[in-house]
Amino acid sequence: MATIGVIAGDGVGPEVARVALAVLDDVAPSIGFRHELVHFDLGGERFLRTGEVLPDRVQDELQKCDAIFLGAVGHPAVAPGVLEKGILLRLRFAFHQYVNLRPVRLYPGVETPIKNKGPEQIDMVVVRENNEDLYVGAGGFTRKGTSEEVAIQTSINTRVGVERCIRYAFNLARTRGEARPFRGLSEADRGQGFTGQVTLVAKTNVLTFAHDLWMRTFTEVAVDYPEIKTDYNHVDACCMRMVVAPERYDVIVTTNMFGDIITDLGAVLQGGMGLASSGNLNPEHVFPSMFEPVHGSAPDIAGQGIANPIAAIFSIAMLLDHLNFGAGGDKIRAAVAKVLATPGPRTPDLGGKSSTTEVGNAVRQALEANDARTR
Ligand code: NAD
Ligand code: IPM
Ligand code: MN
Repeated sequence: MATIGVIAGDGVGPEVARVALAVLDDVAPSIGFRHELVHFDLGGERFLRTGEVLPDRVQDELQKCDAIFLGAVGHPAVAPGVLEKGILLRLRFAFHQYVNLRPVRLYPGVETPIKNKGPEQIDMVVVRENNEDLYVGAGGFTRKGTSEEVAIQTSINTRVGVERCIRYAFNLARTRGEARPFRGLSEADRGQGFTGQVTLVAKTNVLTFAHDLWMRTFTEVAVDYPEIKTDYNHVDACCMRMVVAPERYDVIVTTNMFGDIITDLGAVLQGGMGLASSGNLNPEHVFPSMFEPVHGSAPDIAGQGIANPIAAIFSIAMLLDHLNFGAGGDKIRAAVAKVLATPGPRTPDLGGKSSTTEVGNAVRQALEANDARTR
């Protein structure tokens, strides 16, 4: 019996979580996955009511879960950072979720704003380092509020932290290549035996200490993966290239801050924030991993019942993959693919007029129909 901790959170978080968890309930029996949900009342409302962000005893309870599903945190009435750092970043760090895995995949039937690009060109995965860099919160103020104020926030990069993340990326490229060789490889590359590619995205031309460490580690780790082609892009060029030539990417490995930024761009390539999913992974399974849509609490549309639930549903698929129930993840992705490939309900972000629940129901019906077909 798997215990799934649920932090529905703020804004559209609870709206998309409800639908995604219904999909989990639907798929579970067909794959022999038994689970119980434990709901954690965390987020802006609790903070405003009690002044508590994440009490230690609640964190201890979360640690006992097999995995965590998070809707979104962030509340217009709470100062920026209180909930984001106090809940999300705290859990990512405390549970050693050092990989933030963010697939960027365009599904047939979804429009990308990128001209002349389709599902064949947009299928990459970003491995975002998730425990270091500017996110550590190393720094502070002196003379705050005066005209001589100094604010410092330091990027922390450790050999251990960088290496484990890069190794994860190479292993992922290997697995992807085994399933289907990377289509962006040239004939000559294939002839040399390459099956996949990892692109390091950094800024070695400016961050000559921190990203020198990244580059050296990348080069050293690559030796253990002779069938994986290596590539390097400065982050600014990567932003350009993700738009003009997304087919050049298979697996991208990058720092926490850059990964945050390029995955919102990645979300747009795959059809918008409403479709982008993520997993904060503790690959060793020592601590629970946490799955969440890439998007936030979307205060501009919260309460209207029109948030796209697909990012959250895809995140549930990633949760099942991580718990070794990949058959369930595949079933969920197939059901969503079916909904997206055929005319049917769409939330307004995808140009439709349907509600969160209507799209969720369409996915649930597709699950059911796919199952009936294979029975
Ligand atoms: P956001 O992702 O919440 O919203 C950006 C835009 O995308 C908005 O126009 C929103 O309407 C749209 N959008 C987001 N999710 C959508 C969905 N499911 N369906 C349709 N449209 C969707 O980012 P923001 O506005 O920068 O941040 C809002 C709050 O969320 C802030 O407090 C921020 O700190 C927080 N945040 C939290 C997380 C998280 O919990 N993982 C992630 C990002 C931002
Ligand atoms: C994300 C979010 C978070 C981040 C914020 C809310 C702390 O933007 O998950 O991408 O920067 O990691
Ligand atoms: Mn982000």
